[in-house]
Amino acid sequence: MRGLHKVYESAAGATEAVRDLTFDVRGGEMVCIVGPSGAGKTTLLRCIAGLLPPTGGDVVLEGRAIAGPPKGMAVVFQDYARSLFPWLTVAQNVELPLKEKRLPKAERRRLVDRSLTAVGLADVPGSYPWQLSGGMQQRVAIARAVAYEPRILLMDEPFAAVDAQTRADLEDLVRDLWHRLGITLLFVTHDIDEAIYLGQRVLVLSGRPTVIMEDVAVDLPDERDQLTTRNLPRFGELRTHVYQLVQKAKRGHRPVSFAPGEGTPHDRS
Ligand SMILES: Nc1ncnc2c1ncn2[C@@H]1O[C@H](COP(=O)(O)OP(=O)(O)OP(=O)(O)O)[C@@H](O)[C@H]1O
Ligand SMILES: [Mg+2]
Repeated sequence: MRGLHKVYESAAGATEAVRDLTFDVRGGEMVCIVGPSGAGKTTLLRCIAGLLPPTGGDVVLEGRAIAGPPKGMAVVFQDYARSLFPWLTVAQNVELPLKEKRLPKAERRRLVDRSLTAVGLADVPGSYPWQLSGGMQQRVAIARAVAYEPRILLMDEPFAAVDAQTRADLEDLVRDLWHRLGITLLFVTHDIDEAIYLGQRVLVLSGRPTVIMEDVAVDLPDERDQLTTRNLPRFGELRTHVYQLVQKAKRGHRPVSFAPGEGTPHDRS
């Protein structure tokens, strides 16, 4: 992200969602993003996905500014209910992007079965999304992204509607997928523990218009386990640190370089 800036214009006036975001994500990295509600996290992901044109700055992928949805990228939207096609069954929803990838039928079947099993939905392939609970629908959206085997995966609070036990399983599924396929993952969550458990870095965003409060390195062992990792003293320290940053962000604090009276963010030197 190079000086990403986004202002929404509407009849009600202008809303500056993103002030200035500059950060790098290396290929194969897992980066979690936390910040207050309304900060601009979804806006950021939509810009990265090429679904929303930035007002200023660029999203640069492998050296080139993107101009639309990049190939090999999958997104799990916060609004999962609206991201599934109601006239398609669960299996057909998951299969759709695989058809666009022009995979042979047998291979599509295998990927659909595997990803539905991975999210615990092997028994409902013939159901329609509206026949499922909210948490189940969300898992269909996750299965669809998983089956696609993207190079880059963006997830916007993907586990918000699932119960705690399933959530832990899905966190491990995402870690496993990331390890197995070497994908680059950006994961937005409200859950600080989840961000630390999953991420190699946690980007803490300020309130709107958003800037980076801090880019926190998660120096925990790569081998993670729901019990062992979460009980590490270092996990507790990181949780405290990120929690305090988010509280500051909610109270309207901004990093020193964006304090009032310091000029626009673009003339920092
Ligand atoms: N289409 C839109 N038109 C006008 N304003 C918008 C639009 N979408 C978002 N906004 C505004 O931009 C700001 C950032 O919204 P965004 O959805 O990116 O926040 P968020 O960090 O994802 O919040 P949450 O954690 O609640 O999901 C908010 O003030 C929101 O009202
Ligand atoms: Mg959001």
